[in-house]
Amino acid sequence: MGPPGAGKGTQAERIAGDCKIPHIATGDIFRAAIKAGTELGRQAKSYLDTGSLVPDAVTIGIVRERLQEPDCATGFLLDGFPRTIPQAEALEQLLGELGMKLDLVLNIKVAPAVLLERLTGRRVCRQCGTTYHMVFNRPKQEGVCDCCGGELYQRSDDTAETVSDRLRVYADQTVPLLDFYQQRGLLQEVDGELGIDEVWASMSGLLRSLSR
Ligand code: AP5
Ligand code: MG
Ligand code: ZN
Repeated sequence: MGPPGAGKGTQAERIAGDCKIPHIATGDIFRAAIKAGTELGRQAKSYLDTGSLVPDAVTIGIVRERLQEPDCATGFLLDGFPRTIPQAEALEQLLGELGMKLDLVLNIKVAPAVLLERLTGRRVCRQCGTTYHMVFNRPKQEGVCDCCGGELYQRSDDTAETVSDRLRVYADQTVPLLDFYQQRGLLQEVDGELGIDEVWASMSGLLRSLSR
């Protein structure tokens, strides 16, 4: 968990690689559906464009299907889900049905002032989804992905105007979830204002203490 631009996707790529589990990001699923022109993409587009949340029923349905894929049987990492109390309750119920449970909820803390610069400077690979930053995490060659040579683009919701709407939606609808997971003893926080490698070091420390 964490506000827009906190570094969820950046750290999730590392965790998923390290733990060898799928990285399930609802935002990535919606963007892929929009690109593919599917019915889901048609439904999701107006919400992503304005920085508001896709309705819970749609989002929960997607995650319900995804968590039943065979690659999730030995674990998974959720990025950007849940984002509302009803989503968290639905997840609890679904995991109960599947005989699984959450091990840990990681919250990446970053002050709002830092987030705007992170988001407006972000670039993403069109082909493989790897994330870069024009200042903090530059590709070797401008506009080209280090991993696959794909073209880098800027997300359409990474404009100053939409970012402020996304931050408001986060404060109103997602912040209450921190208490929800605190009460369940699952929440751990990391300082997301450190560099990418330092944030990773504290996250991987928490993950290691979990597996002991
Ligand atoms: P989503 O794609 O989840 O967007 P978000 O939550 O706004 O988060 P971001 O992906 O923008 O940020 P991030 O935390 O992943 O940061 P990143 O690692 O890229 O959701 C998009 C939309 O989809 C929503 O608005 C909504 O419409 C819909 N949606 C998605 N899930 C939904 C749900 N559950 N319910 C309903 N609707 C849903 O890093 C950002 C930048 O900073 C990068 O350039 C990176 O290189 C850089 N950076 C990262 N870490 C650091 C660091 N430590 N220091 C310096 N720079 C850093
Ligand atoms: Mg992300
Ligand atoms: Zn790439």
